[in-house]
Formats: sequence, C-alpha cells, structure tokens
Amino acid sequence: MDKKSFLTDLKNVITNFNIICLFIFLLGGAVVLAYQGYLEWKKSEPLSEVISFFNKDYDVSMLGDSPENELIRYGFELFKNTPDYIGFNADNRDKIYSGNDLACGNCHLGVGTKPFAGSLIGVISRFPQYRGRENKIGTIEERINGCMQRSLNGRSLPIESKELMALVSYLTWLNKEAPANGQVNGQGFAKITLPNRPINLYNGAAIYDLKCSVCHGNYGQGMKFTDTQRYQYPPLWGRDSYNNGAGMTRVITAAQFIKANMPFGATFEQPLLTDEEAYDVAGFINQHERPQKMHLDLDFPDRMKKPVSTPYPPYVDSFTIEQHQVGPFQPIIDFYKETYDVIKTK
Ligand code: HEC
Ligand code: HEC
Repeated sequence: MDKKSFLTDLKNVITNFNIICLFIFLLGGAVVLAYQGYLEWKKSEPLSEVISFFNKDYDVSMLGDSPENELIRYGFELFKNTPDYIGFNADNRDKIYSGNDLACGNCHLGVGTKPFAGSLIGVISRFPQYRGRENKIGTIEERINGCMQRSLNGRSLPIESKELMALVSYLTWLNKEAPANGQVNGQGFAKITLPNRPINLYNGAAIYDLKCSVCHGNYGQGMKFTDTQRYQYPPLWGRDSYNNGAGMTRVITAAQFIKANMPFGATFEQPLLTDEEAYDVAGFINQHERPQKMHLDLDFPDRMKKPVSTPYPPYVDSFTIEQHQVGPFQPIIDFYKETYDVIKTK
C-alpha cells in the first residue's frame, strides 16, 4: 500500500466515522426530544383531566322540585350564605352555630368546586376516614363539624339537624361525577416548594399591603356585602376570623391555599404569587391575633401525626413553638424522618 492510498483510506474512514457520529448524534437528539415530548405529555395529562373534570355542571338551580332536591339546594345556600342561616343573622337564636360570619364558600371556593381550593368534589367517598387530629375514624358529619368548631369558630351542628343533613346532601350531589374512590386531581391544595428559611415577616407585610389589603382591608378585617351578613372579602385575622385551631392557621396549608387562589383570580394553572411570596404572606397573616380555641392540647393524641406547622404545642420534638409557626420547616421534616421514620408533608 503506498502512502497516498493509505491517506485516502484514512480519509474515508474519518468521513465515515464523521457520518456515523453525526447519525448517532441526530438519533440521540431525536430520542431526547421524543422523551421530552413524552414528559410534557405526561405533565399535561393530569391538568387536562382537572380542567375537564371540574368544568362539569354543578348548577343547583337546574334540579327539579323533589324534597331531595330541595335539601340539596338548601345545602348549597347554607354553604354559600352560612351566616344568614346558622350565624348571627339566623332567624332564631337557637340556630346560631357559627361564632364568626365566615361562609364555608369563603375557603372552599366555587361553592366547593374549585380545584386546589379545598374542593369537596369526591369528598363523600373519602369518608369515613382516619383522622390524626382525633386519632380515630371520623365521619363526614364530624369533619364538617371540625370546620364548624374551628374555621367558623363555633359549635357542632346536631347530627339530626336539617342543616347538617342539607350540607351532606349537597356534598353527596357534588360527588355525582367523581370516581368511586373519591380521589380527584385538584382535591385539597396545591403543593409548593417550602423555602428552607424562616418566614420573612417584613416581606410578608409588604406583599400584604401591595396585593391583599385592597380587598381584605388594612387591618385584615375584610368587608361585608351591604345586603347580607356575608363577607364579600372575608377577614384574615381578628375576632371575626377562623380560630387558632383551624387548618388555615397552619402556615403550610395557608400558603398552599393562597398560592393557587389569591389574590382573587389566581388559579393553579395561573398563580399570581411565587412560592416564597405565598409562604411569607401566609406567615404574616397567621402571626396576627385571632380567636383562641380551648383544649387544643387534646388534638392529635398520637403526637407523631401532628402536622409540622401546627402552631400550638405539645410536640414530640424539641423545636420551639416559634419554629413550628414560622419555620424553617425542613429541619423539622428531616428530624421526623431520621428519628421516627415518619414522612411529613404538611
Ligand atoms: C377559614 C377557612 C374555612 C372555612 C370557613 C371552612 N373550611 Fe372546611 N376546610 C378548611 C381547610 C383548610 C380544610 C383542610 C384542612 C386540612 O388539610 O386538614 C378543610 C376541610 C374540610 C373538609 C374535608 C375535606 C377533605 O378533602 O378531606 C370538609 C368536608 C369541609 N372542610 C367542610 C366545610 C364546611 C361544610 C364548611 C362550612 C360549615 C367549612 N368547611 C368551612 C378551611 C375552611
Ligand atoms: C380582589 C379581591 C381580593 C384580593 C386582592 C385578595 N383576596 Fe383573598 N379573598 C377574596 C375573596 C372574595 C375571598 C373569598 C372567596 C369567596 O367567598 O368566594 C378571599 C378569601 C381568602 C382567604 C380564605 C378565607 C379566610 O377568611 O381566611 C385567604 C386566606 C385569603 N383570601 C388570603 C389572601 C391573600 C394572602 C391575598 C394577597 C396575596 C389576598 N387574599 C388577596 C378576595 C381577595
């Protein structure tokens, strides 16, 4: 073999090698693109499910005139205009069960149908359910009464009352399209990434002034409609707000609610705050005075089940009450994992 043909051979080999490399490169690119496309598709799947699911028709005025439908309609009314029926505006004093003028629908938006706003579609099938707060299997009636005693700062509705039956009827009707196990995408609240630092109350106050006070008021006092006791903008602290035993006083729960719903108009798909902003403003709200619930030390008899941002003791860890209120939460979450092998999400 002379030198020249050796070089041509070598050139051919190199060219072929280049072509093979190019081919592998393109193939690799195609695989990566296809995989990314697949991931996008996977991601978009639950979302479109959420949208189609929650767009179903939940209009009670379309129901016919049977006694059952009357009860559903009353439940809907009660959920939406709670203070007019079981609050201070009730037609007789014996019917006053709530201790503030909040309505169920102030927190469970869209009268219980908005995704990631404590949606109650499917909830009937999720009960009876084990409850850590009481350390026993609880019924849907008991769960509603949990919100009566805490979120509404009031007392339990009697099991045989028309009001409790109406609320359960309404929730049962909301269940009509839900899967049998009641597990619905969009139930509960949006997950957020918790910053691994304490809440910045200055930042929280600044966000509040800029993005919340226009509706909820400079003193968190909210504003009522003129023709009913119902709030147009519910209070976020002070004597007419939820008490310190309510789910909303857990900073993580409040931040998750706020992220996908506030300022009013925000949704899971189109939030208006970053996770850090939701975290700081939730902390700012919950550091204010609110009604105190008695006997909170009896909650979560199995203390291991207590959510990390429960703002009141006792705890089975040595972090301060302050850290349970304003974080950082990651060290607490890590502690439960390492010490008790318990995974905390809230
Ligand atoms: C101040 C806000 C607020 C108000 C007002 C409120 N709730 Fe709730 N509710 C919550 C929060 C927060 C949770 C979830 C708590 C948790 O994560 O443990 C919840 C949970 C529930 C659940 C269980 C949901 C599930 O997915 O397991 C039901 C049922 C319920 N509420 C019904 C009601 C009813 C009926 C009313 C009116 C009588 C009401 N709530 C008023 C905040 C509120
Ligand atoms: C445009 C008016 C508006 C703005 C701005 C707004 N909200 Fe709200 N907020 C509402 C309304 C209305 C409700 C009750 C929803 C309903 O009844 O349908 C509500 C409910 C809430 C609730 C649950 C009810 C309660 O009493 O606890 C919280 C918490 C909350 N908002 C926090 C915030 C925070 C934090 C901001 C600022 C980041 C904010 N909101 C900005 C109108 C507003």
